Amino acid sequence: MNSRTCEDVLDLLEEKEDCTEEELTLLLRCEEPQVVHRLFTLADAKRRKYVGDAVHLRGLVEFSNFCRKNCLYCGLRKENRKLKRYRMSWEEMYALCERIARLGVKTIVLQSGEDPWYEAKPFAEFIHRVKKLQVAITLSVGEREPWEYALWRDAGADRYLLKQETFDRELFARLHPDDDYDTRLECQKVLRELGYQVGSGNMVGLPYQTPEALALDIKKFQEWDFDMIGIGPFIPHPDTPLGHFTMDPEKKCLLTLKVLALTRILTKTTNLPATTALGTLVPGGRERGLRCGANVLMPNFTPHPYRSQYTIYPGKICVQEAWGGCLSCMKEMVTKLGRTIATDYGDRVRPIR
Ligand code: 5AD
Ligand code: SF4
Ligand code: FES
Repeated sequence: MNSRTCEDVLDLLEEKEDCTEEELTLLLRCEEPQVVHRLFTLADAKRRKYVGDAVHLRGLVEFSNFCRKNCLYCGLRKENRKLKRYRMSWEEMYALCERIARLGVKTIVLQSGEDPWYEAKPFAEFIHRVKKLQVAITLSVGEREPWEYALWRDAGADRYLLKQETFDRELFARLHPDDDYDTRLECQKVLRELGYQVGSGNMVGLPYQTPEALALDIKKFQEWDFDMIGIGPFIPHPDTPLGHFTMDPEKKCLLTLKVLALTRILTKTTNLPATTALGTLVPGGRERGLRCGANVLMPNFTPHPYRSQYTIYPGKICVQEAWGGCLSCMKEMVTKLGRTIATDYGDRVRPIR
């Protein structure tokens, strides 16, 4: 009976590409193999319909692992004294961006913990310089003041990633001792008004996270109409307060893929990465993501020895890979799946409503 109802929801999704939060919860709870299989197949078809077969590559540079915050789940949290910290200099970062651009990568993602060492003005000058390499620039450096976001946008930054992690207010508060739910969303508003393409996202399999909370995330993704949404499994880090919350990896993988698939169907043209966390959770995780709605991959270009020190969670894949190796690895992955590598910048195209 349960599976019949789920089939009904799938019919609805196939035709209307929309459903209620309750209906999302029903599908998230369902473990019926045929239902799950049909959901994934549908998401793959919608991905092809709305964003095609091309996979966009976003070159990732993790330039500092210092963070002023203490998010309960994250290995970069300030109170993790075991972590060896690093900061790349502007010159080091620029030389790296030049090399990435020369490889034909069209987007560079500059990511770090929340590190005030990188002041707004020199950062703007840096962005201005990197823009001349004719790449799209995505920033992922957390919460800052509106004037800083504005300065960076003027300097040429194109996109900004700032994940909500969960849209459940209570869970958000429990996980983020330094953060306010509405302040985070206010940042999103500011960024959007400044003309950034904005990205959000969540973690799946967090302690105390219910299917209802995940359904809410998906509805919020749809409501906010984000340009990019990063959906990844929570992977416990032993040197954090949540280090002991384990869950069967395959179960967590399936749940993450369901969230990804449903997000594709409801948001249509949003850019969805097959995350490194998904590839870390289970072998072939990213490939499975690409077949359940994802259309983006993020090759890691962080130089050694820093790469192994950006341990937001343990066991991260690609850490041992030689510099530039992820690019060829991903090209092969995409080809094997019968897909192509995008040659354009991969800006998000809004669906016609
Ligand atoms: N497992 C998976 N993802 C994590 N992140 C942080 N900690 C973890 C973890 N333990 C992700 C969050 C955050 C980014 C820095 O990394 O989504 O946005
Ligand atoms: Fe810092 Fe981001 Fe990790 Fe929170 S999730 S501790 S803000 S790096
Ligand atoms: Fe990094 Fe395969 S993508 S090693």
